[in-house]
Amino acid sequence: VQAEMTLAVVGATGLVGQSILEVLEERASIPVGALRPLATEGQGRAVHFRGQTLAVQSLSETGLKGADVVFFAATNAVSAEWAPRVVEYGGIAIDKSSHFRLDESVPLVVPEVNGHVLRPGPKIVASPNCSTIQLVMVLAPLLQRRQLSRVLVSTYQAVSGSGREAMEQLTRELEATLGGGTSPARSVYPHPIAMNVIPQCDRVGDLGFTGEEWKLTRETAKILGQPMRLSATAVRVPVMVGHGESVYVEFDRPVAVAEVREWLREAHGVRVADDPAFGVYPTPLQAAGNDWVWVGRLRSDPFEPRGLHLFIVSDNLRKGAASNAVDILERLIQQEG
Ligand SMILES: NC(=O)c1ccc[n+]([C@@H]2O[C@H](COP(=O)([O-])OP(=O)(O)OC[C@H]3O[C@@H](n4cnc5c(N)ncnc54)[C@H](OP(=O)(O)O)[C@@H]3O)[C@@H](O)[C@H]2O)c1
Repeated sequence: VQAEMTLAVVGATGLVGQSILEVLEERASIPVGALRPLATEGQGRAVHFRGQTLAVQSLSETGLKGADVVFFAATNAVSAEWAPRVVEYGGIAIDKSSHFRLDESVPLVVPEVNGHVLRPGPKIVASPNCSTIQLVMVLAPLLQRRQLSRVLVSTYQAVSGSGREAMEQLTRELEATLGGGTSPARSVYPHPIAMNVIPQCDRVGDLGFTGEEWKLTRETAKILGQPMRLSATAVRVPVMVGHGESVYVEFDRPVAVAEVREWLREAHGVRVADDPAFGVYPTPLQAAGNDWVWVGRLRSDPFEPRGLHLFIVSDNLRKGAASNAVDILERLIQQEG
């Protein structure tokens, strides 16, 4: 990482790629000398960055060679093929895909939680799944104080988590439903998503849990550096941006809600919104467009004194993807400075 960096964004025309450009634009602390937007093909497309119009280029060796840092926000196959080459060329690849996340030689990083695992030098750094990031941001401050014996998570995931095409599908389905027309052909999901809730994100795998559910279990354990008895149900809901998570946490011994609320208030990047009698709790509309991980609805379990329930929401495109990737870059710059 150098003083004036050359950055490349693979997938610059996608939802996460666009968010990366937005977040980089907001962070004046990141010294960008040149920015290369890359996608499948240029096709005459352009992106806007810090007052400039930049032509989108096809992903190729030329676009990656000489880049100090390359953000990968395309597909697993693209990351698998190209991220190791970035390292060969002497750069750092920050990968938003899931391809390298569980690779033991690749750090999986949420800087507020385990930024200490980052080391200087050319490498691949993986950024976790969007649902995992907001979850570990809340679990880590609890784990600093107590052991957790069990965690159960149910997600309420926005369609933007599945990319641009899924947002367009929800829009078209809503228009068709509200306008009385016929729904468009299904594409991204196995069922219509407008006016619906789909208890399946990703393919069904081991023990009947989906890929998304296993990501939550395995990525969380890797980031927190300890085995976690965590199981999840991942559900897609007709929300554009902002993933919700209903979480049951069981501690090793009884804990007071007020105490947990204080721990979370002190946590970097976390905002407590917890006064339900006055309608104060996190919602996707409140989380969309900012980098906070919002948490509320804190309450003790009525039957288990070691158990506590809470609700977490964060913008899946920002802290769940782009901002976390840029936070990783910021942490690397700080290390070298
Ligand atoms: N959406 C989220 O909340 C989220 C959160 C965490 C992680 N992620 C991960 O981030 C990645 C991007 O997701 P997204 O939601 O931004 O998807 P998206 O909106 O569908 O955008 C995909 C991007 O990848 C590019 N791309 C696809 N195939 C390519 C290829 N062969 N070569 C070069 N570029 C290619 C596309 O370029 P064209 O325009 O040329 O097709 C587009 O820019 C995925 O790995 C996803 O799993 C997403």
